[in-house]
Amino acid sequence: MRIVSGSSSLMLSSRLSEITKIPMAHREIKRFSDGECYVRLHENLDGEDVILVQNTYPDSNIIEYFLLVDAIRQYKIKSLTSVIPYFGYGRQDKRFNEGEPISAKVFAEHLSENVDRILTINLHNPEVINWFKVPAIEIRAEKVLAKYFEKFNPDIIVSPDKGSIERAKYLSELLNKPFISLEKKRIDSDNVEIHTGDIDVKNKVVAIIDDMISTGGTISTASTILKNLGASKIVVGCIHGLFVANALNRIQRTVDIIFSTDTIENEKSVVTVAEEIASKIL
Ligand code: R5P
Repeated sequence: MRIVSGSSSLMLSSRLSEITKIPMAHREIKRFSDGECYVRLHENLDGEDVILVQNTYPDSNIIEYFLLVDAIRQYKIKSLTSVIPYFGYGRQDKRFNEGEPISAKVFAEHLSENVDRILTINLHNPEVINWFKVPAIEIRAEKVLAKYFEKFNPDIIVSPDKGSIERAKYLSELLNKPFISLEKKRIDSDNVEIHTGDIDVKNKVVAIIDDMISTGGTISTASTILKNLGASKIVVGCIHGLFVANALNRIQRTVDIIFSTDTIENEKSVVTVAEEIASKIL
């Protein structure tokens, strides 16, 4: 077996290789001066079961994914499993307005080309798994994320919106602490409106769990309100930390501790999903 790491997932691939003892294939990835991508495998993969680990976010990683699949396929490999830790475009899972594409379906179908199976972590909409054209599994990272929350000993668990209620409930059961859900209304891609209802967070350590943080609008709005209501500390954990533009700065104005998994690699990816992936490939 061999792991081929795309440039989005070197940290996760190394952790996966360490756990599974599957060596990482020697590969080269660079950009031409016009920005186009160049990839090359420096190893013959004949006879191997190959695991490709690569995100499809941002867009440049999609190109790299297709090139790596083609480079791998020139060998007489036994199988190709594609691990997509963060599946980009997963949020456009329907035609919200006439004339739009169903982006999640477009990419689920195209990313299935020339691979034998797909593993991905926490899709924004789990139904999207049915759009892949090869056997596909959605791995859930709630368990590892929830374990990490334990050390902060929160008093109350908060779901920032309806979409994370099940996650917050899971965390609340694991830590044996109450949970509440906030009401969120999106104004635009950067801003949201949040209503808390009648809650008591005074002098409490509040844990907020979400599937992804993008602009940080949701978390910074929620945590500002919770701090104004007297929360003593706010701990935030998410699965996919996109942290676009100045999201981290924006969040850290009111959030005391923030962490994510390593589906998207950044300075906050302290929780690894490598064990979860390993359990599906061995
Ligand atoms: C929403 O449905 C998601 O669970 C996240 O709350 C959302 O995508 C976060 O986005 P942002 O950080 O831009 O508010």
